[in-house]
Amino acid sequence: MPVEFLGIAATGDGSETTPRTTAAFDRDYTLRLARAHEDNGWDRVLFAYAAGAPDPAPAAAYIAARLDRLQILLAHRPNVSYPTFAAKTFATLDRISDGRLTVHFITGGNDHEQQREGDFLTKDQRYDRTREYIRIVKQAWTSQEAFDHEGEYYRFNDFVSDVFPVQSPRPGVSFGGSSPAAYAAGGAEADIYCLWGEPLAQTAEQIETVRAAARAAGRTDLPRIQVAFRPIIAPTEELAWEKAYRTVDAIQERRRSGAFARRQPAGAPGSAPAPENTGSQRLLAIAEAGERYDRALWTPTAAATGGAGNSNALVGTPETVAQALLDYYDLGVDILSARGYALLDDAVDFGRYVIPIVREEVAKRDAEKAARLERAERDRHQLIAVQA
Ligand SMILES: Cc1cc2nc3c(=O)[nH]c(=O)nc-3n(C[C@H](O)[C@H](O)[C@H](O)COP(=O)(O)O)c2cc1C
Repeated sequence: MPVEFLGIAATGDGSETTPRTTAAFDRDYTLRLARAHEDNGWDRVLFAYAAGAPDPAPAAAYIAARLDRLQILLAHRPNVSYPTFAAKTFATLDRISDGRLTVHFITGGNDHEQQREGDFLTKDQRYDRTREYIRIVKQAWTSQEAFDHEGEYYRFNDFVSDVFPVQSPRPGVSFGGSSPAAYAAGGAEADIYCLWGEPLAQTAEQIETVRAAARAAGRTDLPRIQVAFRPIIAPTEELAWEKAYRTVDAIQERRRSGAFARRQPAGAPGSAPAPENTGSQRLLAIAEAGERYDRALWTPTAAATGGAGNSNALVGTPETVAQALLDYYDLGVDILSARGYALLDDAVDFGRYVIPIVREEVAKRDAEKAARLERAERDRHQLIAVQA
């Protein structure tokens, strides 16, 4: 299977290491960053969601209308919308983009952040609601007949949409989370299951858990797996490691100055409140157990942000980082997500220097696998002929 690359769409230029110099929604920067991905070999970009941040759906529509190939992964929180309304928004966006939309359904890993937009359910209840929500969206995308719904969180009658997605049967459903409730909901409903980058052994465990959850839900297909990293690349190993230490210093400095206070609602500025979501707890436990894993995984970036989402780095030359990513491909990962700390420059560098190596190696591996299968099939036929 060809591998896919997911980058980041951002509407402003700030990151964990650099204060924002643009407006929160800067139309030109949004387009420049997306175009840097399209022009440098990426497949898709994620429009993330946060309370208070610019709404990613119109930003995604803008990018879809201006660019021809780049696919869109739109993060969406069920608590901010009614599912039938959301289904129409997504279908319209799939029309605008001519079939380039995938929706990333976000359950929300932090109560306080959810409460900022009126969501007072517990995390496990939120996962239940996400599951009901995704089912409704799928039905609204595909049902030509009016339907009623009476569930735990939603009730409506006689809905049929007048706008259907371009993609048939429907756009992809992406999903993330590392708690038991997440595996159960995403295992049942997701086409793409997203993980934050962990060492190979822990990633293999999570992949198995997701697959087991999908089987337990009675599925015959399995979700594709996506894993996310923060690559730190440079022309030599030495320069890459210098850059890595500079990156962590910058994150720590910004954190001390209170720059992440709104992202870490439970603690005092600069302190490290314990995250509520399992995914972040896992990242912190892994960071506590060691700084370096496998070929190039480096955890101090995760520790410095308090395990904030996609935060484990891959450090080294483009060749080293590409080989590290291939290790994940060999584990069964289909989609590699990467975001640097200098959003624009890193999107260009990673696209130019890392993506081609990975794609070439994946093509080789796939060709070898196809040849092995063909040989095995020929041997089987010869055996049958001999036996006959
Ligand atoms: C790849 C990926 C991207 C995510 N993007 C967002 C996002 O844009 N906004 C957000 O609030 N949560 C985001 N999340 C958080 C998850 O949707 C989920 O709410 C959280 O990880 C639940 O935590 P759990 O590990 O306890 O199940 C993302 C998670 C993953 C794995």
